[in-house]
Amino acid sequence: MSEVLYIKASPRKGRSHSLAVAEAFLEAYRDLHPQDEIVTLDLFAENLPPFDGLLINAKYNIMHGRPHSAGEAAAWRVVEDYIAQFKGADKYVLAAPMWNFGIPYRLKQYIDIIVQPTYTFSYSPEEGYTGLVTGKPIFIAGARGGSYPPGTLAAAFDLQIPYLQVILGFIGFTDFRIVLIEPTLEGGPETAQARRREAVAKAREMAKEF
Ligand SMILES: Cc1cc2nc3c(=O)[nH]c(=O)nc-3n(C[C@H](O)[C@H](O)[C@H](O)COP(=O)(O)O)c2cc1C
Repeated sequence: MSEVLYIKASPRKGRSHSLAVAEAFLEAYRDLHPQDEIVTLDLFAENLPPFDGLLINAKYNIMHGRPHSAGEAAAWRVVEDYIAQFKGADKYVLAAPMWNFGIPYRLKQYIDIIVQPTYTFSYSPEEGYTGLVTGKPIFIAGARGGSYPPGTLAAAFDLQIPYLQVILGFIGFTDFRIVLIEPTLEGGPETAQARRREAVAKAREMAKEF
């Protein structure tokens, strides 16, 4: 039995294109793997801790080999719980909109929580940085209002998918399965619905090999 962690990074519920495509993917996946468990993490419903004060001190304690104070240790346990949930999964599904060319702030906050030295990456002067979350695939449904085709000037503005590949690659991911839904805000609602239908069909196909 595998565990799939489904990370929802759009707050738009039933209107969201990325959620619709990720959920079509999961529906097809569930039909093929009824025994697997799908754990949902809705980042806009979750009470994620702000990554400030105590948590930053705790992170730097780890990097510099210093012990935590009692307050830092207590705050850090929440971070450890999110990391344990993340690392406990065998496969990942992420629904991620583009916001201001990057990712929604809640997804960035979650990344700031789970990307931690000794937990999801390691560092040594000899080996440099090594990702510790390895051998696991991630399906990303990425929605954007505009279009950012590779090889065009617009592609340079896409700091959503390239960023996700860099940061997830940093912690060990190599197996990215990506479906884009674009444009969702150009050409009227018919265009968005057509792009969504195409992406849903692609996602259902990709679920067969996940
Ligand atoms: C705060 C915010 C910022 C956005 N910034 C961009 C952007 O920089 N580029 C773009 O193409 N679309 C942008 N959009 C549009 C969304 O990417 C688009 O509506 C997409 O479909 C959202 O994904 P969702 O339907 O899964 O919620 C933005 C939307 C919001 C709410």
